[in-house]
Amino acid sequence: MSKTVVIGSDHAGVALKKLLSDHLAAQGYDVVDVGPADTKSVDYPIFAARACDAVLAQNALGILICGTGLGMSMTANRRPGIRAALCANEFMARMARLHNDANILCLGERVLGQGLALAIADAFFTTDFEGGRHKRRLDLMESCHDRPQPQHP
Ligand code: RB5
Repeated sequence: MSKTVVIGSDHAGVALKKLLSDHLAAQGYDVVDVGPADTKSVDYPIFAARACDAVLAQNALGILICGTGLGMSMTANRRPGIRAALCANEFMARMARLHNDANILCLGERVLGQGLALAIADAFFTTDFEGGRHKRRLDLMESCHDRPQPQHP
């Protein structure tokens, strides 16, 4: 996993995007901002797609922010290879990495205070995937909607 963090938002997430970009850059991360640059109204799927492209191309972790984090997480999770986790607290962020190997953290700027958002990001970026039985479950995640359905091992 690279020390690159890809970050994107819609208009409702620009302020938190700037805060998190500065915070992560100060910690030595190479922050790739896929936009937008201002708060003019935009459509979140466009920026979710850009961030997913960059995360997959660079084998990096990413952050996507919109008002609630919901639209970003729904959009990002449609992309094969992306596991986007909408997190509202540090425990969820830690578990999203530890058990789900999430590669994108989704946040809602209209949901979280700044201090909590920073703490959630810190938990996400300082936790590694545990592997083991969780790897088997991630592999099943890729195929569980195929027919016939996989059996429990
Ligand atoms: C924009 O108003 C808002 O709908 C968007 O930021 C996001 O919350 C959607 O899921």
